[in-house]
Parts: sequence; C-alpha cells; structure tokens
Amino acid sequence: MNSRILLPLLLFSLVCITNGTKVFNVLRYGARSDNKTDNAKAFLRCWIDSCRWRGKSRFVIPRGWFYLGAVVFRGPCNGHKEFVIKGVLRAPIKPGLFFIDHWITFQNMNNLRIYGGGTLDGQGASAWPYNNCKTGSCKPLPVSLRLDFINDSYIHNIKSINSKNFHFNVFSCYRLAFRRVTISAPHDSPNTDGIHISGSGGITVDAADIATGDDCISIGPGNRGIHISNTFCGPGHGISVGSIGKSETTEESVSGVAVVNCTFRGSLNGVQIKTWPDSKAAGGSASNFTYDNIWMEDVENPIFINQQYCPFNLCNPQGSSKIEISHIIFRNIWGSSTTRDAVKLNCSKSHPCHDIALENINLTGPGGVASSSCSNVHGRSRGRQTPPSCLH
Ligand SMILES: *[C@@H]1O[C@H](CO)[C@@H](O)[C@H](O)[C@H]1NC(C)=O
Ligand SMILES: *[C@@H]1O[C@H](CO)[C@@H](O)[C@H](O)[C@H]1NC(C)=O
Ligand SMILES: *[C@@H]1O[C@H](CO)[C@@H](O)[C@H](O)[C@H]1NC(C)=O
Ligand SMILES: *[C@@H]1O[C@H](CO)[C@@H](O)[C@H](O)[C@H]1NC(C)=O
Ligand SMILES: *[C@@H]1O[C@H](CO)[C@@H](O)[C@H](O)[C@H]1NC(C)=O
Ligand SMILES: *[C@@H]1O[C@H](CO)[C@@H](O)[C@H](O)[C@H]1NC(C)=O
Repeated sequence: MNSRILLPLLLFSLVCITNGTKVFNVLRYGARSDNKTDNAKAFLRCWIDSCRWRGKSRFVIPRGWFYLGAVVFRGPCNGHKEFVIKGVLRAPIKPGLFFIDHWITFQNMNNLRIYGGGTLDGQGASAWPYNNCKTGSCKPLPVSLRLDFINDSYIHNIKSINSKNFHFNVFSCYRLAFRRVTISAPHDSPNTDGIHISGSGGITVDAADIATGDDCISIGPGNRGIHISNTFCGPGHGISVGSIGKSETTEESVSGVAVVNCTFRGSLNGVQIKTWPDSKAAGGSASNFTYDNIWMEDVENPIFINQQYCPFNLCNPQGSSKIEISHIIFRNIWGSSTTRDAVKLNCSKSHPCHDIALENINLTGPGGVASSSCSNVHGRSRGRQTPPSCLH
C-alpha cells in the first residue's frame, strides 16, 4: 500500500479509538438522585462494568444530588478510565454509618481521570463533634476521597466541601496530578486537611483553592518529588511537610518538595516543616525543598521550621528530633505576619538544620515590626532581609 492510502486509514482508525470511549451512566444501573437512596450498590455495579470494559471507558454521574454510603472502586481495570462527577455526592450523616476511615476510595489502578465539576459533600458538621483526638480517644472518621496505589492519573476540576476528616488522601501513588481542585470547610473544623500525601512520588498540585480547618496541604512521611504551584491557602494551617518522625520503627524521609507561586491569606502557618521531638527511629531526613514566590497576607507563622512539634502533649517535649533537615531554600517570600516572629527556624539540638537559605524576604509584623529567630541552624542569607536574618 502506498502512503497516500495508508495515512487516511491510520487517521481513521485513530479517530475511531478516540470516539470509541464507552460510556457507563449510573442512572442506567438504578442510581437515584433523590437525596435518600444509598447509591453505593448502583455505583459499584456501574463501576465494575466500566472497569472491565476493554479499552477506554467513562463512568458518569450526571447532575443531581446523590446520597452515597461508603464505597471502594477497585482496579486493576482494562485500559484508561474516566470517572466523571457532574452532580453532588452527599455522605451519610448518621453516626452509625460514619465511624470508618473512608467514604469514597479508589484503589490499585493506573490511568484514571477524575473530573467533571461536581462536588463531594462530606456533610462534616454531623461528625466534627465526635472528633476528640485531643483526648486521645478518637474513633476513625471518613476521609472524603482516598487514592491508594494509583499511578499516572489526574484529578481535575472537582470540589470537596465539609469533609468529616481529610478531604483528599493520597497514599502510595506515583505521577498523580491535581489541577483546579477546590476545597472548603470552616476554619475551626477539626482535622480537615485539604490534601494529605504520604508514601508517594511525582505528585503535582496546581491551581488549588483551599480554605479549611487544618493543613491546606500536608506532606507526610515517605514522599519524594512533590510540586505545588499557583495554589491559594486560607483559612487553614498552611502547606506543611510533616509531621514526620513519629514512627518508632520506620525511617521517615521526605525529599524534593517545591512550593512556588502560592498565596496564603489569614492562615495559621505559611510554609512549615514539622517533626516530632522524640522520634525513636534513627536516620530520617527532610531535604531539597524550594519555596519560591510566595505571598503571605496576615499569616501567623509565615516561615516556620518546628522540630518541637508535639500537639496535645502526646510526646516528650524534652526530646530532640532525629530528623535531619537540610538543603532548604526560602526565596522571594513577601507580605505580612500577624505575629512579630515572622521567620522561625527552630531545629533539633542533636541534628541541627544545615544548608538553609533565606533569599529576598520581605515580611512585616504587627506595627511594621518583625523579627526572625534561629536555633540550631546553619545556613546563609542573600538579598533583601526584612526582618533581619538570624542566619549569617
Ligand atoms: C436535595 O437536596 C438539595 C440540598 O438540600 C436540594 O436543593 C434539592 O432540591 C434536593 N433534591 C431532591 C430531589 O430532593
Ligand atoms: C506505580 O509506580 C511505582 C513507581 O514508579 C511502581 O513501583 C509501581 O509498581 C507502579 N504500580 C503499578 C500498579 O503499576
Ligand atoms: C530536588 O528536588 C527537585 C524537585 O523539586 C528534583 O527535580 C531534583 O532532582 C532534586 N534534586 C536532588 C539532588 O535530589
Ligand atoms: C511561577 O511564576 C513565574 C512568574 O510569573 C513563572 O515564570 C513560572 O513559570 C511560574 N511557575 C509555575 C510552576 O507555575
Ligand atoms: C524552640 O524550641 C524550644 C524547645 O526546644 C522552645 O523552648 C523555644 O521557645 C522555641 N523557640 C521558638 C522561637 O519557637
Ligand atoms: C517590603 O514590604 C513593604 C511592606 O509591605 C513594602 O512597603 C516595601 O515596598 C517592600 N519592599 C520591597 C523591596 O519589596
């Protein structure tokens, strides 16, 4: 065959494959948008067909309000899968139905795309009064969306409101991209981290808009290569690495974190690294982080390394963290702090921080006055330093 015939043939077959996405609509499986039927079974039946379909398929939840109990969407699947949420999914509000650690879970699959402009409504107000972790006796509450063992996937244009626990939890995933997710919960809702990431690599978060009661994004142990850009945080507890160093048995390291072009407004912290002071396991580290081009507005602790992190006195505060923090750059960070201590670098006595850089910092405190404090830190500063740098 000559190429004049082959080319159109090739194009034709490509178009067929693109248009050949098989659609699975939950309404065909008995789902009902009446705010009261539990749609978990209908969604699962629909998912099983969509997952088994050989080739690209699209699972669709149309507009409407769908009440949904806990559900796990499992892989592996045959080929690329889309999961389109156009409607509002609403979680249970009866305590008998929510003392478990998950609401919607995706497990063990590659090439998944979740999108559609829809909303996950965790109906958290029903559960927050039961969050009594401060007293040490907390029953599990559901994370709104769990992603476990997922590779090469996207979560685009999804909204999560009022989660009972974390909004999104990423565990053991590689090459996952969040884009334009919107997260919202009241500033005083307990434990409602926006996106919590652990044991993962190659995770990007771009253009997220996060207002919540705990960390906007928390980067837990075992992560490598986390990029956050163009993200807004506030209210919330900032973008945190940690807490790490709590485990008694496993080393807990994090490396390669970039936070660029982000804005914090009215948040408790801005960029934070926190480690427990009395870690038992040796050898953990936090290294190679870049914080660049960050605007802070009325943030309580804009730049904060806290190696004495010990909430609710659940540890020995006299201890000294064994997590070694190094090669961290704070560059082009501007704006206002609501406390004088705009820059706090409080490192471990036994494992001091090293290769820490402050470059072009312009943070003002209350009445225009700010200060910086360093303990057990080695590093350098360059360019503008307001407040005057505590590094030399
Ligand atoms: C479901 O609940 C929402 C919010 O309370 C309401 O706006 C909507 O009309 C309800 N839909 C049905 C079908 O009851
Ligand atoms: C996901 O990616 C990681 C890291 O590249 C790899 O070790 C793992 O086997 C992958 N999982 C699947 C199911 O492909
Ligand atoms: C540092 O982290 C960046 C990601 O932010 C990565 O691209 C780079 O390879 C890392 N460098 C080293 C030496 O690990
Ligand atoms: C951050 O902003 C700068 C200046 O606008 C731009 O050049 C750069 O590409 C941005 N980086 C990311 C990761 O969005
Ligand atoms: C740093 O931590 C020590 C505890 O080791 C604490 O006493 C001190 O107040 C902290 N400094 C700052 C500036 O937070
Ligand atoms: C530093 O911040 C102050 C207050 O926000 C502002 O007036 C000043 O112009 C800034 N300086 C530079 C060099 O950006």
